[in-house]
Amino acid sequence: MLDLSGKVAVVTGASSGIGRALAVRFAEEGMGLMLADVDPGGLAETAAMAGHGKVLTQITDVSDENAVQHLANRAFGELGAVHVLCNNAGVFQGGHMWTRTSEDFAWLLGVNLWGVLHGIQAFVPRMIEQDTEGHIVNTVSVAGLFAAPYSGAYSVSKYAAFAASQSLAQDLALVGSKLRVSALCPGGVKTQIHRSDRVRPADLAVARTRDDLDAGAIIEGLVEKGIAPSIVADQVVDAIHEERFLVLTHPGYDRGLRTQTERLLSGGLPDLPAYE
Ligand SMILES: NC(=O)c1ccc[n+]([C@@H]2O[C@H](COP(=O)([O-])OP(=O)(O)OC[C@H]3O[C@@H](n4cnc5c(N)ncnc54)[C@H](O)[C@@H]3O)[C@@H](O)[C@H]2O)c1
Repeated sequence: MLDLSGKVAVVTGASSGIGRALAVRFAEEGMGLMLADVDPGGLAETAAMAGHGKVLTQITDVSDENAVQHLANRAFGELGAVHVLCNNAGVFQGGHMWTRTSEDFAWLLGVNLWGVLHGIQAFVPRMIEQDTEGHIVNTVSVAGLFAAPYSGAYSVSKYAAFAASQSLAQDLALVGSKLRVSALCPGGVKTQIHRSDRVRPADLAVARTRDDLDAGAIIEGLVEKGIAPSIVADQVVDAIHEERFLVLTHPGYDRGLRTQTERLLSGGLPDLPAYE
């Protein structure tokens, strides 16, 4: 899709970080916006920052199917169409595989996987019916390509989100759809992801553990030296223009993918990639 001007984008996780940067960048492109998040204060700030054209906001928990259906109803109803859907909301919880609880998995799978699935269910049939060019951008992670210690629960959710993105792209190609898909796989980006606890539902809260705190410190370090979210937003707009499926925000990871494949083919356990 070459011309974004006058089109409509929906962005989840728009109150902060990559979602906010996407909203601001799409506004600069002249797009109408429907912005969604669980954090009302951040959402209002993003709407003000992206206030060039028509901007609507909707408090939405993406792990709640009905809430995402309502978001879609408002977007199609009040903006007339949806051309770009960014299933971007996400949360991080670290720790060793054997210390992670059912609450941890329920939270991460709820937001990082079900959030993407709910977005696909609520929007894609209507985007197909609309019969225009369009693009679905699912924010995955390099953790959806390289499973690593200290982040098993997050990687499980992101590997699944990557699979959902690839299958969606292949299904759409199979039926000759005008819709395209990108799996956005960022490395370190300077956002609030290491502070995901701030939006953790109380009924899924768990006691902190040593390994969880250690993992949090590692992630905080990666995020602190990460790239600016605006760089990621530029890469997403390029990917939409170029109809690019895999978006690796950091150049080193293509080497990491080759090394991992070679190691797997030799029957070995992949090394930890040099995270950037
Ligand atoms: N920052 C990084 O280094 C990095 C790396 C790889 C992938 N990612 C992914 O990027 C995406 C955006 O995260 P970010 O880095 O901008 O972090 P962030 O914490 O700054 O932003 C995430 C946003 O998602 C929202 N959110 C959380 N739970 C939600 C829910 N249930 N429903 C709706 N919104 C919800 C938060 O309120 C927040 O506004 C996530 O999917 C994350 O996993 C980030």
